Amino acid sequence: MPSAVVTAVDAVDARLREELLACWTDVTNAGGAVGFVPPVTPDDVAPVLDAVVGRVALGRERLVVLRVDGELGGFAVLSLSMSPLRRHWATVLRVQVHPRLQGRGLGRVLVSGVHEVARASGLEMLHLTVRGGSGLERFYARFGYREFGRMPGAIRLAPGDDREEIHLVARLGEPAS
Ligand SMILES: CC(C)(COP(=O)(O)OP(=O)(O)OC[C@H]1O[C@@H](n2cnc3c(N)ncnc32)[C@H](O)[C@@H]1OP(=O)(O)O)[C@@H](O)C(=O)NCCC(=O)NCCS
Repeated sequence: MPSAVVTAVDAVDARLREELLACWTDVTNAGGAVGFVPPVTPDDVAPVLDAVVGRVALGRERLVVLRVDGELGGFAVLSLSMSPLRRHWATVLRVQVHPRLQGRGLGRVLVSGVHEVARASGLEMLHLTVRGGSGLERFYARFGYREFGRMPGAIRLAPGDDREEIHLVARLGEPAS
């Protein structure tokens, strides 16, 4: 059984940046819904990753990484609001497990870890969106996420191929025992 550890990372060094870049590229090219349309190269993903790294350094986002036997197995991003009225919740972005590791329960480990990091940061609620038609809302339902709305046509995968975006919210209760 591999050892899976989820931690929040405050600073991204060059090695971690390369690992994140390879993971995000591979997940996208395997069909993952993480902000791009495949195919992509690392050069396509790098500017978006570097913007995340910049926001992490500013404390506007928190990076949560999954390590499996020491190697990067996936990650997610918690996007914090700058508004004093919205400091009790965050948006979860880019949830991903590397394709070679998917389907082994590690997505559950990652999302549970994201919730622990969020609770430890004093957050009470998490928001996230999934692409309509992906079926991912079923994955998130087990963590307490419920749908509160859909934005028609929010995601343009290609000209003439617009998808709705499903908005989900979960209250962070006590950790599941
Ligand atoms: C979504 C993702 C993080 C799940 O990680 P994973 O390691 O494959 O998931 P797990 O093995 O922990 O699966 C947990 C459960 O969720 C279900 N599940 C996994 N992916 C699912 C999907 N796309 N749709 C519906 N259910 C899904 C599994 O069947 C499993 O159910 P079970 O416990 O009844 O067997 C991973 O598949 C991934 O990285 N996908 C590509 C990126 C992506 O689209 N991210 C979503 C951004 S919103």
